[in-house]
Amino acid sequence: MAKKIRVGLVGVGGMGGCHFYNYEKIENAELVAVCDVRKDVAKEKVGNRKIKIYTNLDRMLKYQDLDMIDICTPSYMHKNMAIKLLNKGYHVLCEKPMTLNAKDAQKVIEAANKTDKNFMVAHVVRFMTPYMYLRSVIESGELGKLIRLDMKRISGIPRWSWEDWMRDEKKSGGVATDLSIHDIDFVQSVLGVPDSIQAYRYNMKENNDNVITNMIYGDTLVTCEGAWYNTGIPFHATFLAVFQNGSIELSDKLYKNGEAVELNKAQAEDVDLGINVGNDDGYLKEMQYFVNCIIENKKPDFVTPESSARSVELVDQIKKKAKKL
Ligand SMILES: NC(=O)c1ccc[n+]([C@@H]2O[C@H](COP(=O)([O-])OP(=O)(O)OC[C@H]3O[C@@H](n4cnc5c(N)ncnc54)[C@H](O)[C@@H]3O)[C@@H](O)[C@H]2O)c1
Repeated sequence: MAKKIRVGLVGVGGMGGCHFYNYEKIENAELVAVCDVRKDVAKEKVGNRKIKIYTNLDRMLKYQDLDMIDICTPSYMHKNMAIKLLNKGYHVLCEKPMTLNAKDAQKVIEAANKTDKNFMVAHVVRFMTPYMYLRSVIESGELGKLIRLDMKRISGIPRWSWEDWMRDEKKSGGVATDLSIHDIDFVQSVLGVPDSIQAYRYNMKENNDNVITNMIYGDTLVTCEGAWYNTGIPFHATFLAVFQNGSIELSDKLYKNGEAVELNKAQAEDVDLGINVGNDDGYLKEMQYFVNCIIENKKPDFVTPESSARSVELVDQIKKKAKKL
């Protein structure tokens, strides 16, 4: 029988829950064990599946024979967990952000460079079909030069996290590090580091935190807006990209020059990562991609540790430069 990657998942809250169910769809991986300090939450996810439950990471590592660990714990834990797991010789998939600041990201890179195992930050937006499609249109130049890109990611302030860690800037980095990083990372991964940055921030006052960043690339203006607002506003992520000869837009649907593009058609035309998951779920695609890279003994070069660290560095700069409103 073909080899299955044996996975341990640490943190089965909101995002860990999403990863948990996706392992059932990944044929060349087996979720062997989960670890969460909340045993009841882990038990509820596991149900009657044959998956071991731990409340302590060291115990999971001691008693289970695992190839890969998937880190879905709060962001302030990523640095230490990633370094420890890389030093112990595991392949590591780590939720975004890589770390809370650029200095810590460099420490993770050092650990990743000392092992032949794979490390990848789960920058899901890079794997989402509308964004992969946008990347391929920018890179192919089929609509000419990019003139303007406007990206938005807005939601109600998160009140659901374990111990409310997300609303604590020291633990989550606030909306720039937690939410806007999705778009900033996408832009950085396609266009590189901008020539200059301006930013404005409403700084976690009365449960409102937003950051609006202008990034200049030559004569192209890119704006990224990330916001948590103190209302029940539903999560939404949109973009408008205007080129010399056309436009790509994500709003209620994906549009090219004002005409809707079916996602399966967009998927057929977007970046080819050699993965075949048959749908447009970015979370499943990033996980399948990482598992395939392990099996094929390849480095996950679609999301390198260096490029994830550059996004953390950019967000650090944005927060430092942001004019406080
Ligand atoms: N890619 C995305 O779209 C996306 C979306 C949401 C969150 N995230 C990221 O995922 C990570 C987790 O966020 P979340 O929303 O799932 O948070 P959460 O609070 O819902 O879940 C975190 C889980 O970690 C557990 N935990 C805490 N300390 C632990 C420890 N020492 N060992 C084991 N388990 C521990 C908690 O009990 C909880 O179940 C964060 O880094 C966040 O930025 C990514």
